[in-house]
Amino acid sequence: MSSTRNRVNSVSSIFLCFSYLIFTGLLLTCEKVDGQIPFACDVSKNVVLGEYKFCNTSLSVKDRVADLVGSLTLEEKIGNLGDNAIEISRLGIPKYGWWSEALHGVSNVGRGATKFSDLISGATSFPMPILTAASFNTTLFEAIGRVVSTEARAMYNVGLAGLTYWSPNINIFRDPRWGRGQETPGEDPLLASRYATGYVKGLQQTDDSASNKLKVAACCKHYTAYDLDNWKDVDRLTFNAVVTEQDMYDTFQPPFKSCVVDGNVASVMCSYNQINGKPSCADPDLLKGVIREKWKLNGYIVSDCDSVEVLYKNQHYTATPEEAAAKTILAGLDLDCGSYLGQYTQGAIDNGLLDETYIDIAISNNFATLMRLGFFDGDPAKQPYGNLGPTDVCTSDNQELAREVARQGIVLLKNNEGSLPLDKQTLNLLAVIGPNANATSVMIGNYAGIPCKYLTPLEGLTAIVPTNYSPGCPDVQCANARIDDATNIAASADATVIIVGASLEIEAESRDRDNILLPGQQQLLVTEVANAAKGPVILVIMSGGGMDVSFAKTNDKITSILWVGYPGEAGGGAIADVIFGSHNPSGRLPITWYPQSYLDSVPMTNMNMRADPATGYPGRSYRFYTGEPVYPFGYGMSFSSIRHEIVKAPQLVSIPLAEDHVCQSSQCKSLEIAEEHCQNLAFDIHLAVKNMGEMNSQHTVLLFFSPPNVHNAPQKQLVGFEKVHIARKSKAQVRFKVDVCKDLSVVDELGNRKVPLGQHLLHVGNLKHALSVRI
Ligand SMILES: *[C@@H]1O[C@H](CO)[C@@H](O)[C@H](O)[C@H]1NC(C)=O
Ligand SMILES: *[C@@H]1O[C@H](CO)[C@@H](O)[C@H](O)[C@H]1NC(C)=O
Ligand SMILES: *[C@@H]1O[C@H](CO)[C@@H](O)[C@H](O)[C@H]1NC(C)=O
Repeated sequence: MSSTRNRVNSVSSIFLCFSYLIFTGLLLTCEKVDGQIPFACDVSKNVVLGEYKFCNTSLSVKDRVADLVGSLTLEEKIGNLGDNAIEISRLGIPKYGWWSEALHGVSNVGRGATKFSDLISGATSFPMPILTAASFNTTLFEAIGRVVSTEARAMYNVGLAGLTYWSPNINIFRDPRWGRGQETPGEDPLLASRYATGYVKGLQQTDDSASNKLKVAACCKHYTAYDLDNWKDVDRLTFNAVVTEQDMYDTFQPPFKSCVVDGNVASVMCSYNQINGKPSCADPDLLKGVIREKWKLNGYIVSDCDSVEVLYKNQHYTATPEEAAAKTILAGLDLDCGSYLGQYTQGAIDNGLLDETYIDIAISNNFATLMRLGFFDGDPAKQPYGNLGPTDVCTSDNQELAREVARQGIVLLKNNEGSLPLDKQTLNLLAVIGPNANATSVMIGNYAGIPCKYLTPLEGLTAIVPTNYSPGCPDVQCANARIDDATNIAASADATVIIVGASLEIEAESRDRDNILLPGQQQLLVTEVANAAKGPVILVIMSGGGMDVSFAKTNDKITSILWVGYPGEAGGGAIADVIFGSHNPSGRLPITWYPQSYLDSVPMTNMNMRADPATGYPGRSYRFYTGEPVYPFGYGMSFSSIRHEIVKAPQLVSIPLAEDHVCQSSQCKSLEIAEEHCQNLAFDIHLAVKNMGEMNSQHTVLLFFSPPNVHNAPQKQLVGFEKVHIARKSKAQVRFKVDVCKDLSVVDELGNRKVPLGQHLLHVGNLKHALSVRI
């Protein structure tokens, strides 16, 4: 009986809460809307709209789009090729701004409708993706996406946001100098692919229904091989990336492929740069051929902003603007971020460069996306997500998730015995020093919005123990360190935390670095403070890109090093959680940290991933770099010592081949991946992971393989990863299913996937396991 009564109680409280939501929703849509909520087919304004096929929600998207496109004039069609799509008032279609951003939270960057007001004055600002990636937690990637799209829909419902978001940025972080590396999930194709898929699924939430509906539309950018902004006299607008087929298919393309194929993203953005002499936005093979036909994009292809103009004006790739319009549309571009297609498409048709049917195809892809978003379904308040409003933004759960993401991402790089975690019981005074020690906007990086609130590192630490603070430098550039003040407080405190690193002044869009040391006199500050300090010295590096901190790695006075990325609005709380041990760190570097000397032998313009012994070119990323890193990809410590054990793994895998296969008679080094012999060719690896420590921990198991040395294969490649909880002094089981043709294959010189025959090495932690693959 009592359980029944409990149930009744909980039902009625849910009901109350729900009606409250409806009530506020009504209030908001009736009285407190800040801007126009853009949507079409508003029958309350015009009953006739209800009779149009394109407004009829019982018809398929395809039929509705065909009906709509069929009712438009050429001028109206052209007006829907740009991101500021025109109003078509005779059909009850409002203007629509396509450009919104949500890289790590709803952003007010872009000229779409997204902005903040008194009604919703901020949105949850998560860490920059480079730190999120360091969590190696795919569930988390999706969880963030869901929160961001909930807040986006809530803002849309009160006229403060659009429905189409040009995020995430999934370019491979190829060179440590790249100013936008912070926006990406790092240097590894598998991690970037998992991040893309997870975040996009969270944003779009198409899985919830079979109806093909989108919560918001995401966009994977910048397609492709784009990862240079502004280096020496080379500019992204005119850079020609010379890329081998091999690098293309085993490094630059995989995240985009996963985004489209596994993530079902609704959009891909083509990049400014050229690839092997062709602007990506005008390359029919890359757009129509690969994205549309091979990967079967269900959505639209958009240009990076003004890149149609760029290919005429800056790249001189076409003789006229009209030709630029024709070439991009013919290549498969659907939407121009910019006004160029709006201006020059009519001329392209008049000059016979383009047929109207291509415009129909482009705008059909654009309208289909809006239909999937419910834009043509009438009043948004009556649709799925229509009940979301201001109370769903910056909720305490959402803000707690922002802090949790930062905690899960933070990487412990060094920890001498007796350093971290600090003990709040015995610590009377903590010195907090450094130009990022009281960071606010630095923590949220670029493509940010206005955060709900900030919790700075100083505030986070001061909430736990008494602190003494000195910035140590006037700003992050730190041209002149203010050493004395800093050394004085370090000398009189029980422990010292120094928070240094970079900011958008150092690394940003259009701002690549030429130096990967700590900026200005930061290194001097750190060294002097460490000399003067009496207790443990914790160096905290806030940055997107890696830093050459060899000096700190080898300095015994610096007892711990943490990398915290740009940790988002609640970053200061997460840093304090780790420093005082209420959270056991589990983040792993998603990029290689190179020494400064690396830059001397690697021009940023050289796109080659593979080392070249003939020229002394050392190669890029953990997969190919042959030199000694400062800290390697995947590195990251915990407060617990963790031991891996292989419980079960095969030593031999045989690939069944037909009797007449060429490899039966001749020596083959590798096998083409083909249906016949790849089917069901998978095995399990069972691992046990032991937490030897006194604290509960989270731990990411990274499974790598080193293939036999054929086809210039990577020296090491991530095959899978799995993050698990392991209670103190206990064991967790981890299983990987390895698909031989998918996971143990490499890309050959021509861009084809092949399984190398011979001895493969699997690596987990310090363990190596030999596996022979033969026919
Ligand atoms: C919408 O389409 C369905 C299916 O063709 C049709 O039965 C219905 O009458 C249409 N509704 C309106 C309002 O025209
Ligand atoms: C730290 O930053 C916060 C937020 O900007 C500010 O209110 C506070 O005064 C700063 N603290 C110090 C000691 O400068
Ligand atoms: C991964 O993130 C999710 C979502 O925040 C969390 O519930 C889970 O505990 C995390 N997993 C691990 C092993 O840390």
